[in-house]
Amino acid sequence: VQRSLVLVKPDGVRRGLSGEVLRRIEAKGYTLAAVELRTATPEILAEHYAEHEGKPFYGPLVEFMLSGPVLAVVIEGQRCIEGFRSLAGATDPTAAAPGTIRGDLGRDWGLAVQQNLVHGSDSEESAAREIGIWFTEL
Ligand code: GTP
Ligand code: MG
Repeated sequence: VQRSLVLVKPDGVRRGLSGEVLRRIEAKGYTLAAVELRTATPEILAEHYAEHEGKPFYGPLVEFMLSGPVLAVVIEGQRCIEGFRSLAGATDPTAAAPGTIRGDLGRDWGLAVQQNLVHGSDSEESAAREIGIWFTEL
């Protein structure tokens, strides 16, 4: 079955929304295969966000992701990669549809980076890569 890497980003953990995100994942019917509160490192983030290196928001993004612990989660279920992206909603929380995690719980805080509460893998290839980065034992 398919697996995806989900992160509750530092803004979500700080706001006490980790449980709410896990609740929505479980209510959707996906299984939690691993859950761990972790503090990222520059090395982990360089791998995780390799595709964004060189973009103007890369520096602020890494800084934001180092600003506090993240909840790293591996979810499991048929088509859970697409399914979680749908639960998360659009990248910009202002534009994200109500009913989604970002649309219901996120907003623009006027900061250098979109603080948008969660990350979800966007393909089978990135899921395998990202699970390997965050959970070396899986
Ligand atoms: P993730 O699930 O976190 O990967 O979000 P995504 O796939 O919807 O977005 P993407 O991978 O394109 O970007 C990763 C993260 O970088 C986003 O979640 C935002 O936090 C930030 N980001 C992306 N695009 C922009 C942008 O145009 N401006 C700013 N300020 N931040 C951005
Ligand atoms: Mg992405």
